[in-house]
Amino acid sequence: MQNSFPTTTDKKLFKKCYAYTRADDVKAEGIYPWFRPIQESEGPVVHMEGRPIVMAGSNNYLGLTAHPSVKEASIKALEKYGTSCSGSRYLTGTIDLHEELERRLAKFVGKESALLFSTGYMTGQGVIQPLVGRGDYILSDKDNHASIVSGNLMARGGMNTNIIRYKHCDMGDLERRLKQIPAEAGKLIVTDGVFSTFGNIADLGQISKLAQEYDAQIIVDDAHAFGVIGEGGRGTASKFGLKDEVDLIVCTFSKTLASIGGFVAGEERVINYLKHHSPALIFSASPTPASVASALAALDIVEAQPELVTKLASNANKVRKGLIDLGFNVIPGETAIVPVIIGDDHQAFHLWKGLFDAGIFVNVFIAPATPPGKAMMRNSFMASHNDEHLDFVIDTYAKVGKKLGIID
Ligand SMILES: Cc1ncc(COP(=O)(O)O)c(C=O)c1O
Repeated sequence: MQNSFPTTTDKKLFKKCYAYTRADDVKAEGIYPWFRPIQESEGPVVHMEGRPIVMAGSNNYLGLTAHPSVKEASIKALEKYGTSCSGSRYLTGTIDLHEELERRLAKFVGKESALLFSTGYMTGQGVIQPLVGRGDYILSDKDNHASIVSGNLMARGGMNTNIIRYKHCDMGDLERRLKQIPAEAGKLIVTDGVFSTFGNIADLGQISKLAQEYDAQIIVDDAHAFGVIGEGGRGTASKFGLKDEVDLIVCTFSKTLASIGGFVAGEERVINYLKHHSPALIFSASPTPASVASALAALDIVEAQPELVTKLASNANKVRKGLIDLGFNVIPGETAIVPVIIGDDHQAFHLWKGLFDAGIFVNVFIAPATPPGKAMMRNSFMASHNDEHLDFVIDTYAKVGKKLGIID
């Protein structure tokens, strides 16, 4: 029987899809590093292709996805409330656990109120657009996460808001831009607290000074800062002692909080406004009972065991130092992210393959996630890695790096 599917040439818009072969070419070489399925996970060790692999690329920063009490809370919630809330928070999708988690998160980060979203990405999208309008200005760091970029674009498309992307962490550029904006215009400075690719920390001290001087509000995305920096893992504002100066903290559950979802925390009046004006909240189903319960149980652990935050820092620092001592081009830092610049895409793919074959999984980032010619291994560590895991990572980098001529 002849099939009736159209031939590939029939669809004008899809021509680029049919012509796209870059991923297939890398796959054919056996060095394709993405979309690799995990068959089982204990946190620091996962099973892939039927064998144990040390995970050195996860955002499960405090290792809580495998914690027995987090898993148990998730199962109990599933049994009590079912698998889904089947509606948005606005209508039938609010359960008591959403409100409990909002109260707990607000208290933890030192804000009056908080609001949950279904993912961190939706939080970034859902918070920016309702707060700005025609004639307002968003000043956004060039390296901000895609969720912020998407929120900015929605603000520009829907509200005709002016978007200014200032040079990455360049406070001189930010000030220059602020100076050019009419004094009476509304201004919103948005920055990642810890930048997700290179793991560097925003200069919140300077951002806050400029915000005061030029009458701007501040949003900080703490996805990679929550549970990682600040007092007991309270994030970037806490690290800089600027809890009150940062107007809104947006964050995800998909890293330290061992779940899926996101939240924004700030003044009660602002959160109340967002609650009634954010399309990402109003027109999308709420986070599932199991994911809210696991985030709550993870938060219990973050509060009760601040030593996990210290352990995470010492684990990441151990590997950072080990790789620097070996001669790798490591971007210095103090967060859980340890980026190793390789340069050439192919060299990075080969290093990835060598590490994977030896039993380690790390992430490869290439342009446009990095500047062109700056392909890198994005290593990230967990509080639950032990010395044996970390030594294995350092020793394997040494062996594979030497074999490929990346280090001497
Ligand atoms: C800085 C930053 N913001 C937001 C997000 C989105 O979070 P989620 O995975 O919950 O959508 C991420 C996740 O990669 C992130 O790195």
